[in-house]
Amino acid sequence: MSVLAVRGLSKSFGGVQAVRELDFDVAEGEVVAMIGPNGAGKTTCFNMIGGQLRPDAGSIVFRERQLAGLGAPAIWRLGVGRTFQLTQTFASMTVRENVQAALISHRGRTRSVFARAKTLFAAQADALLARVGLVDHAELACASLAYGDLKRLELAVALANAPRLLLLDEPTAGISANERQGLMVLIAEVVSERRISVLFTEHDMDVVFGHAARVLVLHRGRLVAEGDPDTVRADARVREIYLGSGVVGGRAED
Ligand SMILES: Nc1ncnc2c1ncn2[C@@H]1O[C@H](COP(=O)(O)OP(=O)(O)OP(=O)(O)O)[C@@H](O)[C@H]1O
Ligand SMILES: [Mg+2]
Repeated sequence: MSVLAVRGLSKSFGGVQAVRELDFDVAEGEVVAMIGPNGAGKTTCFNMIGGQLRPDAGSIVFRERQLAGLGAPAIWRLGVGRTFQLTQTFASMTVRENVQAALISHRGRTRSVFARAKTLFAAQADALLARVGLVDHAELACASLAYGDLKRLELAVALANAPRLLLLDEPTAGISANERQGLMVLIAEVVSERRISVLFTEHDMDVVFGHAARVLVLHRGRLVAEGDPDTVRADARVREIYLGSGVVGGRAED
């Protein structure tokens, strides 16, 4: 049964058709990669599913609920999680407080409660931090974390709404190749034990082919190939799109 069913999804910015009549599904517990060259429309697609952007046309059905037209907070509360860059406001909070804030907003309480509720959801926050290997850092200010640890914290925060689908837009961007594999293994373990479906984008093809059960290839907003990693790697159209960028063997960028 599919957790996510996308049909006819389209979005233009002025004259640029960023996403064109996109159709795809994600099954329960499935880890799917969406790849494509810069500007292919991946982030635009994620933003429409997460509610940061309103689609021009199309349908996004998540566990039998229509998401198109809903705002980001409503979609998050329904169980679509995503990692996001932690903002300046949150940098001054401790690692534990960041996870507590996410837990509080998921349970429908307002942030104003937070000031007098340092202990609210502290145990649940620490359990999530333990899972991502950060419980020893719970008292530290976020701003003092190493970048790789911040990525783990983002994952703990993304788990706070008990998501059934996680959208990960370049989860390992900006971290070293060594840390990249470790983070992907952690993500793979966490989503597998919780049977969370994942849709992720990545420019590192080792990460894509090592962790995705299925790969969707976008080019100029359209889905041009889809299949298991071996099928996609061998696809003539995919090779043509990436010709010269070395994508099928290594990292597409940098
Ligand atoms: N807010 C916006 N306003 C105008 N054009 C936009 C906007 N967001 C995206 N675009 C354009 O839409 C197209 C798709 O962009 P998008 O960011 O979705 O690509 P992407 O596949 O995520 O690329 P990358 O791999 O570089 O992250 C591009 O041509 C981009 O310039
Ligand atoms: Mg992008």
